[in-house]
Amino acid sequence: MKPIESLVRDNVRNLKPCVHGAEVYGAAEESGFKTEEILDFSSSVNPLGPSQKALDAITGAFGKIEAYPDSNSNALRQILAEHFGGSITKDNIVVGNGSTELMYLFAEAFLRRGEKAVMAAPTFGEYESAVRKTGECVKFVRLGGNFQIEAQAFRQEMPGCKLLFLCNPNNPTSKLIPQKTLTEILDTALSQDMLVFLDEDFLEFIDDEKSRTMIHRIDRYPNLFILRSFTKIFGLTGLRCGYGVANPEIINVLLCSKIPWNVNCLAQPAAIAALKDEEHLKVTRALIKQEKAYLQKELGQFSGFCFSEPDANFFFIDIRNTNLTANALKHRMLKQGILIRDCSSFVGLNEFYIRVAVKTHEENVRLIDAFKKALKAV
Ligand SMILES: Cc1ncc(COP(=O)(O)O)c(C=O)c1O
Repeated sequence: MKPIESLVRDNVRNLKPCVHGAEVYGAAEESGFKTEEILDFSSSVNPLGPSQKALDAITGAFGKIEAYPDSNSNALRQILAEHFGGSITKDNIVVGNGSTELMYLFAEAFLRRGEKAVMAAPTFGEYESAVRKTGECVKFVRLGGNFQIEAQAFRQEMPGCKLLFLCNPNNPTSKLIPQKTLTEILDTALSQDMLVFLDEDFLEFIDDEKSRTMIHRIDRYPNLFILRSFTKIFGLTGLRCGYGVANPEIINVLLCSKIPWNVNCLAQPAAIAALKDEEHLKVTRALIKQEKAYLQKELGQFSGFCFSEPDANFFFIDIRNTNLTANALKHRMLKQGILIRDCSSFVGLNEFYIRVAVKTHEENVRLIDAFKKALKAV
């Protein structure tokens, strides 16, 4: 038998898994804490967890486990179309096993041999991994001062590329793309027959989400695919459910090329119930707003922390003036049972950036207390 490595496709042989936050299992092993004892600030999801109505829908669906789920998540797509006020129909929607599945599906469906994808640095790492898995190349565009996306820098790199990944607001920088910049980039992409994958997974945490979303603009931009998730504000993180909105031609390609039964029979009804529970979203947004203000003030007291006001539900902090690397600070925090995101794995960042989510007040107080102890020891 030949070595297995020699049988692997070239583009797969060199793949490395993307680094993420929420590594509570590894963190528990390292720290000696149990997973449930670790306070996870590295994962930016709803600190209140999912809606009780979604949890009830899950238990109500237990009887469905013995059958295959609806392969195309039709009921959920219908409810999603209604949720967006009838400006789209279910033919504009594809549902994925988490929104990450749709990144891979999109790259696989549209990137042909020799075609390139372009994206910001830093941004969410799975876009790059999805492109690499197809065997094709990535071009990075560095963000400008204060980690803002600059239209001119993108316009320079876009010619000759097939696919553009954007994240609004961006992970890990917590910055929204200014509307004018976004429109300029989208217009350029349209004029160059380039497809745009716009990740709006964190947009529901933003006050003016409705005026910022591009979901209602898919008629103007037939080249645009917008990503959303039930992981973030809906807190259905472990169930794995996300969706994309685009013109029916794009959606049809993805529906035909995805694996069957990709979204399970508990996730589909849970997502429907979560979407209908507007009260839970309202309470969540109010909590995030209040706690963001609290953390802005408290984190600002650490002279070694440099950050601007976040747009999303997480803070992105330059810690170089603490004289600690992100990795060293992460370990000091973990000794106290708190997990923060060391951002050094993001392309375009050095070893001095961390990301922390906004959680409940009690948890945020613990975070600040742990930072005090961790920084005192420098
Ligand atoms: C910007 C962004 N998009 C997508 C995802 C993945 O979301 P999902 O859980 O829906 O796959 C993440 C996860 O951290 C993210 O930060």
